Amino acid sequence: MDSTPQTKIHRFARAVTDLEPEGAYRTLAAAQQLESQGRQIIHLEIGEPGFQTPSMIAERGIESIRQGKTRYTPAAGLAELRQTIAEQTGTRLGLKITADQVVIGPGAKPLLFLPTLALISTGDEVIYPDPGFPSYEAMIRVSGGTPVPCRMDSNQNFSSHYETIEQRITPRTRMIVINSPCNPTGTVLNLKQLEAIASIAIEHDLWVISDEIYRNLTYPPVQHHSMLCIPEMQERTILVDGFSKSHAMTGWRLGYGIMPSGLAEKVGLLMVHSVGCTAEFTQHAGLAALHCCEEQTIAMRDIYQSRRDLIVQRLNQIDGIHCEAPSGAFYVFPDVSFLGRSSQSIADALLHDVGVAVLPGTAFGAAGEGYLRLCYANHHDNLHQAMDRIEAWFQQQPRKS
Ligand SMILES: Cc1ncc(COP(=O)(O)O)c(C=O)c1O
Repeated sequence: MDSTPQTKIHRFARAVTDLEPEGAYRTLAAAQQLESQGRQIIHLEIGEPGFQTPSMIAERGIESIRQGKTRYTPAAGLAELRQTIAEQTGTRLGLKITADQVVIGPGAKPLLFLPTLALISTGDEVIYPDPGFPSYEAMIRVSGGTPVPCRMDSNQNFSSHYETIEQRITPRTRMIVINSPCNPTGTVLNLKQLEAIASIAIEHDLWVISDEIYRNLTYPPVQHHSMLCIPEMQERTILVDGFSKSHAMTGWRLGYGIMPSGLAEKVGLLMVHSVGCTAEFTQHAGLAALHCCEEQTIAMRDIYQSRRDLIVQRLNQIDGIHCEAPSGAFYVFPDVSFLGRSSQSIADALLHDVGVAVLPGTAFGAAGEGYLRLCYANHHDNLHQAMDRIEAWFQQQPRKS
């Protein structure tokens, strides 16, 4: 029995009582523990680009620090960065977007979290993808909302969720979260699917958070489409994007959201009272990224695509595993249900038995049972070595009868 005295100071607020860490960080900690004991682990768990930040971006950041650009900025971001994002996104999508619709934050995560906080009241229901990025459920809970997981159809490569969204609408539904390209499945929603989701949002007067952080990692010939482009969606969409994945800038902490200006003002206020602002030199590095680095981004995408092809081919060569070639992001989501074991126990065994850190599909929701998530943003040689170990492990396992 727990002997901790249950006085008032030992009670946490409801908002955090059920909060769970991201599975990736839990597995990373377990992998690092093994490394500290001398084991050699190959990391396919954390969603982090294996590349360095392009040097032009890094140099701009360093130069900005040297120039003393180390002060507070306006909470919603530097005017020049907001303006550039508004102009570039407007040109790309063929829309009129103004700087007051753009809010800059330390990473994309605050642009998921703070708009949710600004829009969700106790009991409001928010529909989000299952399997999906774990922070969606957390941000809905912390905001006092009710998370409503929408099970994606594995028979349709986890892409078709129009019918399942429709079935989950109630009078309390206030928002739908979508993510394309998707973490963990890599699925990219096509225009028809986006239009179908938009029609539900319009019919039921709902907000849509469209997490497009992996947009630059959509593999040709598939094209990325933004929810913002669907007619009538600009007034009810929060587009979330950032630099972490596309520009290998995870640790710089730089993301942004594009939303109606009234909401942007409220999100700016939440920014003032929570993080204050985003580091000034990071924002200058972001400006450099927007002006100079399209070629590097495309080069990185092409390398990821070749690594995707490699890992999909190697996985499908393992008897019993089925793995689709995803159209975006840098994850694969192979079906390993043939073993008849839980995803968690397979992921644990791969880490402990052969030193490969992967995530169980269930780290992304109940619908992930029977799957693993592998991040292939890693070096070619490491991927081959990881696949040799994974293949050898699977070959030794008894099959479900
Ligand atoms: C789907 C998705 N959205 C948002 C984020 C957060 O990005 P950032 O590191 O810029 O906060 C991640 C990071 O893994 C992600 O996978």
